[in-house]
Amino acid sequence: MKAIILAGGAGSRLYPLTQVSSKQLQAVFDKPMIYYPLTVLMASGVSDLCLISTSDDLPRYQRLLGDGRQWGVSIVYREQPAPEGIAQAFLIAADFIGSDSVVLMLGDNIFSGGDDFPRAVSSFDGGATIFAYHVKDPQRYGVVEFDHNGRATSIEEKPRQPKSSYAVPGVYIYDNDVLEIARAVKPSARGELEITDVNLEYLRRGKLQVRRLSRGFAWLDAGTSTALHEASAYIDAIERRQGVKIGCPEEAALVRGFLSIEQFEALIQKMPACEYSDYLRVVANEWHRLKGEI
Ligand code: G1P
Repeated sequence: MKAIILAGGAGSRLYPLTQVSSKQLQAVFDKPMIYYPLTVLMASGVSDLCLISTSDDLPRYQRLLGDGRQWGVSIVYREQPAPEGIAQAFLIAADFIGSDSVVLMLGDNIFSGGDDFPRAVSSFDGGATIFAYHVKDPQRYGVVEFDHNGRATSIEEKPRQPKSSYAVPGVYIYDNDVLEIARAVKPSARGELEITDVNLEYLRRGKLQVRRLSRGFAWLDAGTSTALHEASAYIDAIERRQGVKIGCPEEAALVRGFLSIEQFEALIQKMPACEYSDYLRVVANEWHRLKGEI
């Protein structure tokens, strides 16, 4: 399984913040936003990643994330010259995907809680798997409608009159047919290759699985200054209460076995003295304790 993180877009709703750095590099409490989706993918066991962004922003991501080797994964980069839709990611990264399946994640989607994604990735056996999450304002998203048996019957992109309260979050798992399907998608009225059209094609073929995320699961939006602030406050509250961090790629790399404990500890040595490295030391100590080494 390969993974694509799409971190394009102008981020105009966050102006003037986005004059100096792209939306997905903004701070969400104590980390850059991109750390959150990246960690979800690594925690799902995916180590072959491609990040897509604009030519202006790619060097910034490269400086932050490098080639991924420090975390035992591989990160390559591709450019999306203009924001022409989520489904364009498959055309841009076709050579990266090759003949594999792929999970696409939007760089501004922040999740916390549950193991729904790791389970969906490990049990994926073809077709498409997407998710549904109950929200108050479904008209802002792709909206999925279910029949009495809980089977998806329709998906609409930002409908004025939503047929349900279930929005489709920005995590999509596809088999290799997505390449052929994305190539056939035509631009929508807003001039974009819509991911909803890809999902509709899988639905038409009877190959779309829609998994409902549980209530306890948090899907946070960070598209406006208020939403960004609220997402930060949420992450702060959970991290402070639990003493665990959300969106920490180093920790996911250790847990998933991408890094050995020795490599993990060497990584901490290179970090400045700060709250983040203090936390990773706690993780390392806990790791030794659970392995009976301390
Ligand atoms: C996009 C998709 C939409 C999905 C949303 C999730 O919306 O088009 O179907 O529900 O991401 O974040 P956009 O970011 O283009 O408004």
